[in-house]
Amino acid sequence: MEVKKKKKKKGGEEAPEKRPVNYKLVRRIMRGTGKYFVISALGLIFAIVTAYLVPIVTSFTIDYVLLPYAEEGYQAGKLAMPQFIMNWIESVGGREFLIKHLYVMALALVFMTAINAFSTYLRRSYIAYAGEGISKNLRDDLYGHLANLPFDYHKHVSTGDLVQRCTSDVDTVRRFIQNELLEIIRTVLMVVIAAVIMLGIDPKLTLWSVILMPILALSSFVYFKAVKTSFGEADESEGKLSAAIQENLTGVRVVRAFGQQKRELDNFTEKNADYRKKNLKLTYLMAYYWSASDAVGYLQILISLCVGVYFTIKGRISVGEMLVFVSYTSMLTWPVRQLGRILADLGKASVSLGRIDEILSAPLETEPGRALTPKIEGSVEFRHVDFGYEDGTDLVLKDISFKAKKGETVAILGSTGSGKSSLVQLLQRLYTCNSGEILIDGVNINDIERHHLRRSIGIVLQEPFLYSRTILENIRIVDPEASEERVFEAARIAAIHDVVQGFEKGYDTVVGERGVTLSGGQKQRVAIARMLMQDAPIIILDDSMSAVDTETDAAIRDALNGRRDSCTTFIISHRITTLCRADKILVLEHGRLVQQGTHDELIRQDGLYKRIADIQNMLEDEFTEEGGEA
Ligand code: GTP
Ligand code: MG
Repeated sequence: MEVKKKKKKKGGEEAPEKRPVNYKLVRRIMRGTGKYFVISALGLIFAIVTAYLVPIVTSFTIDYVLLPYAEEGYQAGKLAMPQFIMNWIESVGGREFLIKHLYVMALALVFMTAINAFSTYLRRSYIAYAGEGISKNLRDDLYGHLANLPFDYHKHVSTGDLVQRCTSDVDTVRRFIQNELLEIIRTVLMVVIAAVIMLGIDPKLTLWSVILMPILALSSFVYFKAVKTSFGEADESEGKLSAAIQENLTGVRVVRAFGQQKRELDNFTEKNADYRKKNLKLTYLMAYYWSASDAVGYLQILISLCVGVYFTIKGRISVGEMLVFVSYTSMLTWPVRQLGRILADLGKASVSLGRIDEILSAPLETEPGRALTPKIEGSVEFRHVDFGYEDGTDLVLKDISFKAKKGETVAILGSTGSGKSSLVQLLQRLYTCNSGEILIDGVNINDIERHHLRRSIGIVLQEPFLYSRTILENIRIVDPEASEERVFEAARIAAIHDVVQGFEKGYDTVVGERGVTLSGGQKQRVAIARMLMQDAPIIILDDSMSAVDTETDAAIRDALNGRRDSCTTFIISHRITTLCRADKILVLEHGRLVQQGTHDELIRQDGLYKRIADIQNMLEDEFTEEGGEA
């Protein structure tokens, strides 16, 4: 498993896959989250409005209530309260009343701040709901889609990359929604509202108060564009680090067996150091930017303050208005400095969304035919089947024709790479043949609904995969409700029951990741038991007893034969003893069916079968002789 191979592409750093944003996808993944966005947006608006009101209330308090020379022709600012509030103040006793009851102004401020806090809470919590909702939708869609993609798809993509798209790409999108999406709106709204209020008071001072803002915004863009590469490098380095960990953990046996710990450790230390270096570089860059932009931001506030004081002394504006300018200026610097980062994250999120879209738009497995669900009895026929892998150049199977009656056992023999596994996979329609037909009970398998077809064919793969669960759970994975009796019976047939009973925890033994706590032969037999639970009319054993000794192999086959005559069985094996009792033996050579018949027929022909049988007999004779001498 190649983890994070394409990590570098994640953030859109190295080679961002330019993919236009798929708005249909955006709409689909937003399903059920609309109300959260609305509440969050309302929270945002209330928060901004109250944040802007606080300096205004303060300004009013200074200009109207506090300044003693107000009566001596002091020009109070333009930021008067709305008429209905002024009416109320007049009705309770005007300025005199407020001077005596200054706490009213304090209460007004507390009230604003409380609304601001509550609105901010709404904004943040509801956008979190929206983000989580969308990422859940994304994961559901991705997982659902992946489960229904053609088998071939999974062969050509790295598992690590897929896992990454389902986890960290989804996370990038979620983080953007939760942290940045509303920030864009917030920044724009703040700038617009501030501009309107400030321009209304004094255009010239407004100009002075925003004079450095373009520099701040521009440097933010330039900076975040520049650190993109560093971000990419750090990301890539992290990817390499986790790939190294992953590989070491997966291949722990190989690492130990070949005494590679030291080398692997050195390798890891090197990657770890590289990761540290890249991250430090990034942190330095960040430190430079934030400190420099802090300086510019404070300079801007200073300019605003100085010019404001000057204008106040000159009598152009009131003290309260100066306060509003200074407050607004400091409120604006932070979001403006963040703009570049938001846009950079927007880029990242859209790249991530593109990578997710790439999976979601991969065509699903189709039903080429009529999707019938007939009751499957188990007779199988191949008619002139040719097959080649899409990514391969040559045909892997050429002109394969044979018939297997219901209940027959068909054995397949052939050197490695001759196409045995490919042949049985065709039967499950994991691939479709290039030409020719495969019929089950006379129906072309292309016309059988794929789930129905696959449920009717029990297969034990050449490399069985077990879940990291208990043996019991593994065996009854197809039918979790199955009784223990049935599980035991299947396990008996697979000659694993006694072995499992011998374990300390019996059937509750947890099989380690990929079955590491079981021996190769035990694993194969658990997989056979699992397949038997499926009660399929056709079963396939793809070299499934290669790790089982000859005696157990024979016992399993006897038990299988005794169990159900009606089961059509395909057995792939290299052992003549396993094959010889089959009703029909198919011999494959370079993808061609070179011989077929029973053991007795084939042994009399000159050919691959006889050659292999002779060699195996000879070896067995030698073995017994040696055993006899000893
Ligand atoms: P053993 O299991 O080793 O005994 O071999 P087999 O007879 O089961 O061979 P299999 O059917 O797995 O492979 C037949 C040929 O197809 C071999 O030459 C493989 O290299 C090739 N092959 C298998 N899978 C793929 C695939 O996904 N793509 C391509 N292009 N070739 C494949
Ligand atoms: Mg094989």
